[in-house]
Amino acid sequence: MFLTLLVTLFDALDIHNQTLPGPVDDPSKLPKWNFDGSSTGQATGDDSEVILCPQAIFKDPFRRGNNILVICDCYAPNGEPIPSNKRYNAARIFGHPDVKAEEPWYGIEQEYTLLQKDTNWPIGWPLGGYPGPQGPYYCAAGAEKSYGRDIVDAHYKACLYAGINIGGINAEVMPGQWEFQVGPSVGISAGDELWAARYILERITEIAGVVVSFDPKPIPGEWNGAGAHTNYSTKSMRSEGGYEVIKKAIQKLEARHMEHIAAYGEGNERRLTGRHETADINTFVWGVANRGASVRVGRDTEKEGKGYFEDRRPASNMDPYVVTSMIAETTILCKAGLSN
Ligand SMILES: *[C@@H]1O[C@H](CO)[C@@H](O)[C@H](O)[C@H]1NC(C)=O
Repeated sequence: MFLTLLVTLFDALDIHNQTLPGPVDDPSKLPKWNFDGSSTGQATGDDSEVILCPQAIFKDPFRRGNNILVICDCYAPNGEPIPSNKRYNAARIFGHPDVKAEEPWYGIEQEYTLLQKDTNWPIGWPLGGYPGPQGPYYCAAGAEKSYGRDIVDAHYKACLYAGINIGGINAEVMPGQWEFQVGPSVGISAGDELWAARYILERITEIAGVVVSFDPKPIPGEWNGAGAHTNYSTKSMRSEGGYEVIKKAIQKLEARHMEHIAAYGEGNERRLTGRHETADINTFVWGVANRGASVRVGRDTEKEGKGYFEDRRPASNMDPYVVTSMIAETTILCKAGLSN
């Protein structure tokens, strides 16, 4: 059987393949592997060996059978995580007893744009021109409003096969832009599942001869950007009196707003303009059912007095390990509480 190893980089995936003697379903039973990190810009200097550490397994929807996809993270030969390994610190935060006790749930809405391969212009858009203005495309059907559904559906199906907790898909406000949702997933698994789903999307679009872009504002002007809205809930937020816990958590996020923004994706300033259903990047606003907020609380949560909130700031190209663990760190541990 084959094994495809996925290594997450900042905004890309590095893929290695390996053949094993038989089926494996537990990452700790997989061998560590290595590659030459100087070829991927992940190592410099004399010793460029990078060690791959298997962390999570999904079924391989392309090779099927006993074949698997494996999320790995990367270490230097001395055992130190290499700088692009963002999973290491996330696993450390999610392994903290206070965070574990809160069983943090995440639901992530991954937006992305499909581009024509040779022009990098959205699919369905006339070359050198624009489609009609936004309005009729969101969740639309019909050849004049919906572009790329076969790709999106194939991705949805492949994620379900892989065992990813994918909740759904829909067409977005900008034509050629789509979204899929992952979750609710607990702790580090949200990051593992989102990276696996992104990898599968790269493979499906490769087959279709289309390019997937995670740029937060692929087309400047009157076109919506692409985000990765992140829903979040802890055990205390889901229990009686949870709304008070939610409000305190939002205050903590406000206090660290610029630190979060710095970690929420490259180019996010082109998206968070205060227009097109976003809040301005330099301002923190929260509100109930407010799409122009940085953080939004749903009417259901307000009504029931417990539930979850949505951090609307993350860009589509964010690293889910960074975003999910940072939300947990800020809201559960603050800075002072985190033991090193
Ligand atoms: C996030 O919450 C919103 C409501 O605020 C809901 O409509 C959406 O389906 C949720 N998405 C995920 C991925 O959990």
